[in-house]
Amino acid sequence: MLHEAGAPPVPSDLAALAPGVWSAGLSRDADGSLALRGTPLAALGRAYGTPALLLDEADVRARMSAWREAFAGADVYYAGKAFLCLAMARWVAEEGLGLDVCTGGELELAVRAGFDPARITMHGNNKSDAELARALELEVGRIVVDSSDEIERLAMLTAGSGRRQRVLVRATVGVEAHTHEFVATAHEDQKFGFSVSSGSAEQAVAAVLAVPGLELVGIHSHIGSQIFDTSAFEVSAHRVLDLLARIRDVHGLALPEVDLGGGLGIAYVAGDDPMTPAQIATRLRSIVEREAAGHSLPLPRLTVEPGRAVIGPAVLTLYEVGTVKPLDLDGGLRRTYVSVDGGMSDNVRTALYDADYTCTLANRASDAAPTLTRVVGKHCESGDIVVRDAWLPADVRPGDLLAVAATGAYCRSMASNYNFLPRPPVVSVAADGSHRLLVRRETTDDLLATDLG
Ligand code: LLP
Repeated sequence: MLHEAGAPPVPSDLAALAPGVWSAGLSRDADGSLALRGTPLAALGRAYGTPALLLDEADVRARMSAWREAFAGADVYYAGKAFLCLAMARWVAEEGLGLDVCTGGELELAVRAGFDPARITMHGNNKSDAELARALELEVGRIVVDSSDEIERLAMLTAGSGRRQRVLVRATVGVEAHTHEFVATAHEDQKFGFSVSSGSAEQAVAAVLAVPGLELVGIHSHIGSQIFDTSAFEVSAHRVLDLLARIRDVHGLALPEVDLGGGLGIAYVAGDDPMTPAQIATRLRSIVEREAAGHSLPLPRLTVEPGRAVIGPAVLTLYEVGTVKPLDLDGGLRRTYVSVDGGMSDNVRTALYDADYTCTLANRASDAAPTLTRVVGKHCESGDIVVRDAWLPADVRPGDLLAVAATGAYCRSMASNYNFLPRPPVVSVAADGSHRLLVRRETTDDLLATDLG
């Protein structure tokens, strides 16, 4: 992360447009303006207003099929929490992926999209009775059980149904992975799953096996998000397969499935170097094969649940610049605050996780020298930052358009109406450059519709 004045670390616009940070369909026209699949972003801005999330459909579909092909013989479930809408759920189905949902709302969206419930895994650390009942009624493929209370409730809800619901037990494997490092401390001190080290995962397994309405098919583990190396997965797979071996020894049962969750990182800024689906698939397969062989276990079927890596790089956010405020700060630091027409309501990740983003001028070329800027939103707090440090041309001015890369994951899905701002639309741009609204912009009337006065 960069917070000081000095020579620009990313001097050329080409570097800012590096593939991997932006979707494959983004290009710069001869006049310097950006286009998505040949359609100028400025035209999309005029058609749909700003801020808007612009989704490169061919790019996201290519990512889905890359995951499916890399994991042939295994299962890929898209983690809908990263971003979900009806079209997205249909693309997931068409590209042959399953769907991971973690609330009744996500489940209902999938149903409305016509998604096959048998290809849905239901997550959640606090599923309500209504959510569990609905999942059972729909006969979802898997429920990942997360607490003893849930096992008891599932026992009651399935009693006498004559049907057996397939479940996985979510194991807390003692690895906390985030960004580049994983830290093996404090991992037990969080809300998800059953601890392996304390023995509660084994107790949960015994409890599930005692419920006639449940069929235990495997163990689930999700270790974190935005992970760049496989060592954390290695520890996770090792502990999950260890658990499988103990279950075999105690219960005489070789569980057929291992779900290692999601978490593969993506490039947000130049220098981020994520693995491809093929690389992670090769790695995970060999880890699981080695661990299974080591325990003389039959090879379990592998499942992964990528969210960010499927949708993140396929989307950019287009903003219009409002005010531009150059500040002379202590120590000779000059920073220009560039305010855009959205902010933490459409991308809370910078404020919440200190996330880094790449941005660039989208409507024109500029020969002006790069200047250190901070792209901020229009909300009433100083933490409302979209891009903490960006080198933008010194002549950036009101009315310019800014594109922020890799906003597909956890931006629209975590958007809010803070300060009574309507949430932005999601616009899909097809391979031929044609475009359509997937999710329309909210209106102030939408926001007032729930206010009964
Ligand atoms: N599976 C499970 C059980 C999960 O909890 C998650 C993410 C995923 C899969 C997908 O992980 P991904 O491949 O997208 O990293 N809001 C945060 C990320 C929270 C992730 C929550 N669980 C962010 O904006 O970085």
